[in-house]
Amino acid sequence: MIPAHSLFAESQMPVTSRQRPTRRGAAVRTRTDRPQAIADRFFRQMVASMRNGVLAITRDGTLVAMNPEARRIFQVRRATNVIGRRFTDVLSDHPDVVRVIGSAFDLSHLPNRAELRLKSSDKVIGYTLSHVYDERGQSTGVAMFFKDLTKVEQMEERERLRDRLVALGEMAAAIAHEVKNPLAGIEVMAGLLRRQVPADAQAILTDIINEAKMANKIVLEALEFVRPIRLEVEHISVAAVLHSAINLAETKVSRRDIDLQLHLDDVPPIQGDEHQLCQLFTNLLINAFEALEGRGSVVLSAREGKIEDEYPVPGADAHPPTRTVVVDVVDDGPGVPRELTDRIFNAFFTTKPQGSGLGLAIVRKIVDAHDGRIDISSGGRGTRFRVTLPISSGNEWFAMSSREGHN
Ligand SMILES: Nc1ncnc2c1ncn2[C@@H]1O[C@H](COP(=O)(O)OP(=O)(O)OP(=O)(O)O)[C@@H](O)[C@H]1O
Ligand SMILES: [Mg+2]
Repeated sequence: MIPAHSLFAESQMPVTSRQRPTRRGAAVRTRTDRPQAIADRFFRQMVASMRNGVLAITRDGTLVAMNPEARRIFQVRRATNVIGRRFTDVLSDHPDVVRVIGSAFDLSHLPNRAELRLKSSDKVIGYTLSHVYDERGQSTGVAMFFKDLTKVEQMEERERLRDRLVALGEMAAAIAHEVKNPLAGIEVMAGLLRRQVPADAQAILTDIINEAKMANKIVLEALEFVRPIRLEVEHISVAAVLHSAINLAETKVSRRDIDLQLHLDDVPPIQGDEHQLCQLFTNLLINAFEALEGRGSVVLSAREGKIEDEYPVPGADAHPPTRTVVVDVVDDGPGVPRELTDRIFNAFFTTKPQGSGLGLAIVRKIVDAHDGRIDISSGGRGTRFRVTLPISSGNEWFAMSSREGHN
């Protein structure tokens, strides 16, 4: 077995099979250039190249391995020397990880696969812990192997939302079907009765008819919301979309003393549905205006961006980055409390007396239909919604759902 310290120590390992020049300039092999040294070097390179985070400590709490992916996840700068330091110091920003690793020495059975949400960064990691044993079977340390699951979680959440929308769509269609006819019956019969009763009773029947009409409208609105979007995709100008969204938002909510700024970099046209995207940004602007209650500032900006290949293979040809357009809607209003940020995109979630809570649910639906993403950041005061749209998108799910008749 190769001892743990020789596998992992990242920067403090002696140089092994490097070719050392002689005085005459010719290269000779060093004493350490033997199979074991080659294997050691290979293991170090393998750990450094892994797409999983690897972290290992000895029994006395000294950090002996932390590969680049672990540094990325735990936000430890590349320049910081960590090998040989106490792991509690290196991970002082992540007390939850320190607790998990520290408690591993007391456990004979370690979890094979567990998840942890890092409080400091809100990242989710899936991890496995292993004891490290020496040749005599003595436990000499603990190793943690982990993966950043944040993206996976977000994708699962999107999947769940899509499933919920499909289920809701089917339910709403069934309700609409069952409820629309009786409602129409109530309306017609109340109308007939109104002609036959004295004037004071007629007012009550008028109320019944109005309520029935209202109930019908709610059923139709719910049906409209859950129906999958059918995009009419064309080459569109983001600037034109944002200008229309501003005009539309201003007709719906009075801006009063709110200062509105628009910063447009030279953004290329994108493939999208102009009408739907206009609705998306209108909803975000309306929310910003409503949050500011007539006073404050809103900045709307658009620029070109790109999403790099997440796991480039060293030495292999990298995938070209996906070109995107990034639109930020920023206000300096009261912000969204952290505990609500997960819920505001849910249909019917609202904190406003007159709100229906469908604004952001529709926003997310439109973003998804364009294969884009939306992120919110709100630290105390102010809110930023960031919409990232690919310059050309597939929107396969919605096309597929329409074909399958989920409407
Ligand atoms: N810019 C913002 N600043 C602060 N809170 C916000 C902001 N945008 C959204 N919210 C919060 O998110 C909730 C949900 O927003 P959403 O647009 O879905 O519904 P709504 O605005 O309440 O109702 P409506 O259906 O009329 O849009 C809001 O009630 C509000 O609490
Ligand atoms: Mg809204």
